[in-house]
Amino acid sequence: MSERYVVAIDQGTTSTRCIVFDRRGRLHAVAQQEHHQHYPRPGWVEHDAMEIWHHVRKTAAAALASAGITLDQVAALGITNQRETTVLWDRHTGRPVARAIVWQDTRTDELVNTLATTPGAESVPKRSGLPLATYFSAPRIRWLLDHTPGLRERAARGDVLFGTMETWLIWNLTGGLHVTDVTNASRTLLMDLRSLCWDDELLAFFGIPRAMLPAIRPSVGLLGTCTEVFAGVPIAAALGDQQAALFGQTCFTPGEAKCTYGTGSFLLLHTGLEPVASTHGLLSTVAYQIAGAPPAYALEGSIAVTGSLVQWFRDQLGLITTAPEIETLARTVRDNGGCYIVPAFSGLYAPHWRSSARGVIVGLTSYITKGHLARAVLEATGWQTREVVDAMNADSGLALTTLKVDGGMTSDNLLMQFVADVLDVPVVRPMVAETVSLGAAYAAGLAVGYWPDLAALRDLWHRAAQWLPDMDPALRTTEYANWQRAVTHTFDWIQ
Ligand code: G3P
Repeated sequence: MSERYVVAIDQGTTSTRCIVFDRRGRLHAVAQQEHHQHYPRPGWVEHDAMEIWHHVRKTAAAALASAGITLDQVAALGITNQRETTVLWDRHTGRPVARAIVWQDTRTDELVNTLATTPGAESVPKRSGLPLATYFSAPRIRWLLDHTPGLRERAARGDVLFGTMETWLIWNLTGGLHVTDVTNASRTLLMDLRSLCWDDELLAFFGIPRAMLPAIRPSVGLLGTCTEVFAGVPIAAALGDQQAALFGQTCFTPGEAKCTYGTGSFLLLHTGLEPVASTHGLLSTVAYQIAGAPPAYALEGSIAVTGSLVQWFRDQLGLITTAPEIETLARTVRDNGGCYIVPAFSGLYAPHWRSSARGVIVGLTSYITKGHLARAVLEATGWQTREVVDAMNADSGLALTTLKVDGGMTSDNLLMQFVADVLDVPVVRPMVAETVSLGAAYAAGLAVGYWPDLAALRDLWHRAAQWLPDMDPALRTTEYANWQRAVTHTFDWIQ
């Protein structure tokens, strides 16, 4: 019999990828397609959900062709996705009613401020595990319902449906199944974190009709069978991309953590079978749920802008032509020259949660060159990681001893060394850097018995690189204090 494979679709913020993995967890073929970023107004970020669906079709065909395999060789499909991004579509036509509102979009700032002073606001974090912030889906659904004539009535009748990207893709792949998984549902502000069900009080608080919401399913287990693109193939897993990376890094035991460096960066710590309420600005979220088993939970430190700061430096300032050049440019100088960039483009996420913050560059003198700016861009990612790790250590009462990393930015050696330096712990990267897709593949393969158990997946994790801390402690303390001062300059810029 011919070799079988597991396929993952990774629907991310900037691109859609389809990746074929073999039984040893090795990447066998990949196809990728970037989609348009629409910025209709300052602070607004939109995606065309139809364009994304077409990219799934294209990348699937290209990946299968490049792998040289047929559909009967695909044991299972796993889906992972940018989280919180909100799509509403017409149940009858399958057409989106508007462009998808992306997780970075801050148009709901005012709405969130109003909701924060509405009775019931105090119970939102207790029930959902999340702070009331523009980052999550519920305010976006509400915004669309408020701003589109007749939409609320159609939604209440169940004629207009809500989904994050995995829901939208599963709907299209299966010809109309309306489901989500617990990890994505845990990012909406609408799910009770303990019961894993939509919460009536939260629905009433945000004014969102239940009829438009998908059914919530475990992340690892059969969600449906494809009728399109992968006809006949079981969709055996769905996870938000950061939870997928945690799974791909095989962080299956409480105390294990990873940080994925992409558009934004997201540090997740497995906290076990009970949600841990954060008192230091982290989120409590579902890590994964295997069908038939209780859910595993995580604490998350979400950083909105890291890789996207490098993109901004490249595309908006034009100081480099490709993202990897930032390392070369940063190496033209010995240090940051006293310059710090705090990229609060979408407000500040963890641990500050200030949607009215906006970015700053401080410490400018005529001495500063583009090399210093490049260094400040990379260092911003290191310091933001440090803030999140400090919060994580304070919440868990344990000090992180090693950080597993993955994602595009981990190919930048200067940055990874800086992260190890400012955290003062070793930073390790696995062989397969495509950890998000790998996690979705692992989850789907586990669900159909392609891999027997979590231990088998753990055996597939191999270290490819390690960075050890090597920074003078006094320098670390001074630099961190400077960074923290710079952060305070971003606060409350929007009034
Ligand atoms: O919460 C947002 C996150 O899921 C986005 O991840 O890698 O698509 O930028 P990424």
